[in-house]
Amino acid sequence: MFPKVTLRFYVTVLCSGYFGILYVFHGHLQQEIQSDKADTAWVKWKNTIYKINYKNSYNFTRTKILSKIDDFTQEMRGPVAHQQSMLKDDVVITASHPSSDSTCYLPPNSVTRTFQFMEKGGIYIYSAYLDERLPDKRFIRVMTLMMSAQKSQKTVSFFCHFKENLEQHNASIYELCENHGKEYGGYMVSCVVPEHVTDICQISVSADIFSKDSSVKLESTRAITLDVTQINTKHAKYNYGVCVPPLFGKPRKEQLIEFIEMHKLLGVSHFIFYNFNIKDEISKKVLDYYSERKEATVVPWSLPSVMWGDQIWYHGQLSVHNDCMYRAMSMMKHLAIIDIDEFIVPHKENGTWTNSFDSLFKTSTNTCALSFDSAFFEPVISNKIASNLITMGSLTRSQQFSRVRTKVIVQPAKVFETGIHHVSKPLNEEMKVIKVNTSEAFMHHYRTCVPNYGMKCSNTVEDKTMLWHFKKLKDNVYNVLKEITIDSVEL
Ligand SMILES: *[C@@H]1O[C@H](CO)[C@@H](O)[C@H](O)[C@H]1NC(C)=O
Ligand SMILES: *[C@@H]1O[C@H](CO)[C@@H](O)[C@H](O)[C@H]1NC(C)=O
Ligand SMILES: *[C@@H]1O[C@H](CO)[C@@H](O)[C@H](O)[C@H]1NC(C)=O
Ligand SMILES: *[C@@H]1O[C@H](CO)[C@@H](O)[C@H](O)[C@H]1NC(C)=O
Repeated sequence: MFPKVTLRFYVTVLCSGYFGILYVFHGHLQQEIQSDKADTAWVKWKNTIYKINYKNSYNFTRTKILSKIDDFTQEMRGPVAHQQSMLKDDVVITASHPSSDSTCYLPPNSVTRTFQFMEKGGIYIYSAYLDERLPDKRFIRVMTLMMSAQKSQKTVSFFCHFKENLEQHNASIYELCENHGKEYGGYMVSCVVPEHVTDICQISVSADIFSKDSSVKLESTRAITLDVTQINTKHAKYNYGVCVPPLFGKPRKEQLIEFIEMHKLLGVSHFIFYNFNIKDEISKKVLDYYSERKEATVVPWSLPSVMWGDQIWYHGQLSVHNDCMYRAMSMMKHLAIIDIDEFIVPHKENGTWTNSFDSLFKTSTNTCALSFDSAFFEPVISNKIASNLITMGSLTRSQQFSRVRTKVIVQPAKVFETGIHHVSKPLNEEMKVIKVNTSEAFMHHYRTCVPNYGMKCSNTVEDKTMLWHFKKLKDNVYNVLKEITIDSVEL
């Protein structure tokens, strides 16, 4: 009994500290709070955060466990010792597990997922992945949105059910990193697939709901059945891909095309968009255009209406990031999750992701991601150089780089959970994130500079890197505009 209490105590203390930091860090970062107070506080926290996140080698000590702490720690820690033998030549070798007819799985680019409502207390199940990346166990990962225990005053235990086996199997619950104390948050529910089970194309998930202190069982929910997507890292055919978090409202019409065409020039061959309620017809037309050409997958993100407001962080951004990463494992070797005003740009002449980053990823088999600092490029409307290309019109950037608003390009096959600005948890603790020197590449952020967290906006420098791509970008954007017959634009 004694060691168990110690572990729980230790993890709880660790988590509270880390979550405190993360909550304040991301909460404030995203809400653009610009007070001096926040800045001062930031300086205090910065060192801790850097210790955890911004060393070339991260220490991933965070594990938040809502229930079944022992199952979970075993699940996450057990396999680590075996990891090294699994990694060869920059590829995560998928362990050979017994598998059923692979054609019955839901393909990773399927756009048929919807939220299934499970219980009055607010549990919504979205997707399920068969994760065979670890050698000694297979897992089902279920992406779930759920009301927080504080709000619902209830705790939940999940179970998986497999077709060949009538028993229910205990699941562990992993809370995604950046739920920011909202009413609803993203969770990953994991079950171990029993060894003898071969029919995994569909599984069912159910839950028992308890009083907040887990002492009284209140009810059992009905079982929800889900089609399973098998993760097949060996079949990832695109070298670089991009996921765009939930798009909503009315993106500026040429901006989407420029974002896609610029990234194609940089070496990206596939895009996954999550569409939450895009209102404007032209953006829909643009997305259809790329979908028809198999250059984009547009996934409906039909968030339950109880989460359309402030009840969840940025329309479920973290769940989208991770659902997208789990899909992308079977499609893309490298993946960036970025907004449409963000461009990760190599700064050697004519640099592309391919000719600049392939070799960085190959420096070590333990590299799971590259991390990039960012600079703000003040958007210039109606510049003579290129009136409608934002990357070509804005040639002045903040002199200082933001070491907080970082973005990562991950090898999704090597990551367990991704965050907004960093890798939250790699598949094993040996995995490292390489910080890319700003002289080689950084993230161009086309928005007004935000002077917080030590960021200074007053000094700017000229930066004409993007002009290397001007002619091609202009031609390509023009051609797409012509093809989709949007009223012609002066470029
Ligand atoms: C990571 O943790 C290990 C022990 O858990 C420690 O020896 C090592 O110095 C830490 N690394 C960093 C970069 O903090
Ligand atoms: C499942 O969880 C219950 C309740 O915590 C526990 O009693 C049971 O032993 C667990 N079953 C397995 C197979 O771990
Ligand atoms: C970059 O591209 C331009 C135009 O294609 C070409 O003229 C130039 O030589 C290239 N520079 C390098 C270093 O390859
Ligand atoms: C980044 O690269 C520059 C130029 O090559 C070099 O002077 C600087 O020391 C590097 N910075 C780091 C942190 O490695």
